[in-house]
Amino acid sequence: MSDTTVRPTVLVVDDESGILQTLEILLRSEGFTPVCAHGGRAALDVLAGALPDIVLTDIRMPVVDGVQVLEAARVRDPELPVILMTAQASLQSAMQAVNAGAFYYIQKPFRNDELLAILRRAAEHRQLRTENRHLKQEIARQTRRSAEPPIGANRGWQEVLRLAEAVAPTESTVLLTGESGTGKEVVARYIHALSDRASSTFQTVNCGALPEGLLESELFGHVKGSFTGAVKDAEGLFAAAAGGSFFLDEIGETTPATQVKLLRVLQHREVIPVGATEPRPIDTRIVAATNRDLEAEIQQGRFRQDLFYRLNVIAIHLPPLRERADDILLLADHFLRRAAVQKGVAPKLLSDAAAEAMRAYAWPGNVRELENAIERAMILAPGPVVEAAALPERVLTRAPAPLAEERTIRNPTLELVERAYIFWVLQQEQGNKTRAAEALGIDPSTLHRKLARYEGTK
Ligand SMILES: Nc1ncnc2c1ncn2[C@@H]1O[C@H](COP(=O)(O)OP(=O)(O)OP(=O)(O)O)[C@@H](O)[C@H]1O
Ligand SMILES: [Mg+2]
Repeated sequence: MSDTTVRPTVLVVDDESGILQTLEILLRSEGFTPVCAHGGRAALDVLAGALPDIVLTDIRMPVVDGVQVLEAARVRDPELPVILMTAQASLQSAMQAVNAGAFYYIQKPFRNDELLAILRRAAEHRQLRTENRHLKQEIARQTRRSAEPPIGANRGWQEVLRLAEAVAPTESTVLLTGESGTGKEVVARYIHALSDRASSTFQTVNCGALPEGLLESELFGHVKGSFTGAVKDAEGLFAAAAGGSFFLDEIGETTPATQVKLLRVLQHREVIPVGATEPRPIDTRIVAATNRDLEAEIQQGRFRQDLFYRLNVIAIHLPPLRERADDILLLADHFLRRAAVQKGVAPKLLSDAAAEAMRAYAWPGNVRELENAIERAMILAPGPVVEAAALPERVLTRAPAPLAEERTIRNPTLELVERAYIFWVLQQEQGNKTRAAEALGIDPSTLHRKLARYEGTK
């Protein structure tokens, strides 16, 4: 907007032609580009097109008055500076308009230098805002470029990333579902990093961590005296996250009362602070997450259906790690490298046995459990190789090790070997008995019988 910063355009609105003409001449001679509108209605027409840098409007006009012009300008651009010109009689309404966010008002009759001083300040304000916005966009662009997608080559995981990337630049509410530790927060951050809001905050709140009253005061803010301990007004986290994204984690843990209030947030994009009566607008993009089955929660009357529909605009389901077993070693490698970078050492390697054990394990705690196992192994394995022994007991006992293990028994009975082999195949098939029976070449009912016997002897 180099041209406009040199000669800022000013929409001049008045219902008196004489004043319009005087102002037009004055502004033009002082380096502005005036656009004159005769009356409020004409001003609305101008505002429907290309926006000026500043609006200078009379307040008292028939049909459409200055306050309406102000409001129309705000709808187009909340940061557009508006200067209201007022006679003594309408000072009151001008004051109210200023409270509602007008840039300034000037009382008629005024001296030219008074008006020009205000106009110059408005132009400066406008330019700062524009530069600020450009800066933010630039930061967002750079953040976007450096946003690393969460690790995973598995097809299901790639689908998750594709959805996340598609929805990121929109303002849509996103609901992330999946078991604990599957990466819901990681994906939420990825969506934020790819959005236009990337240069602003990513606010997270764990809805399950706070009791109802405290959670509401945290989220929506409160006014002084609304409860014991509310010694002054407090801005809520929704307000604090203006311009950024808001991650509502564990949304399934909220109480019905809080759910009603969250519904308002999603429907009207506003909050009512605890103890206040007037709603306040918020400007944040909402991403929610839960490891509960919300539809089942609705069935049981624990979750509001209307809130679910508002949240579920874009739903992304994250697969458990056992369904993306092809990513296990990729993730393990990623965590080993990350730890090495943090410690400034060469990354350790997984021994074949360790890798096998990890690949075969079902990881009920998903990526978080894998991450913890690697961290533990890094500490336990002194050399350059992470041996299976450095892995947690549970990873090893359910791994395909049985055959090797049984070999250490000098003369294993056929039954012992069979048992070990059956459990190993079951593990390979992620506990699916039908597929295990198929792989073993036996009838499912035979497998059931054998399992019942082994499980009794285990
Ligand atoms: N694809 C991934 N790439 C890299 N790290 C990951 C990935 N997925 C998860 N992680 C890591 O695993 C851990 C768990 O992820 P996250 O906290 O996002 O899971 P979650 O689904 O929010 O779990 P919970 O429901 O328990 O809160 C984090 O430390 C995260 O950094
Ligand atoms: Mg989480």
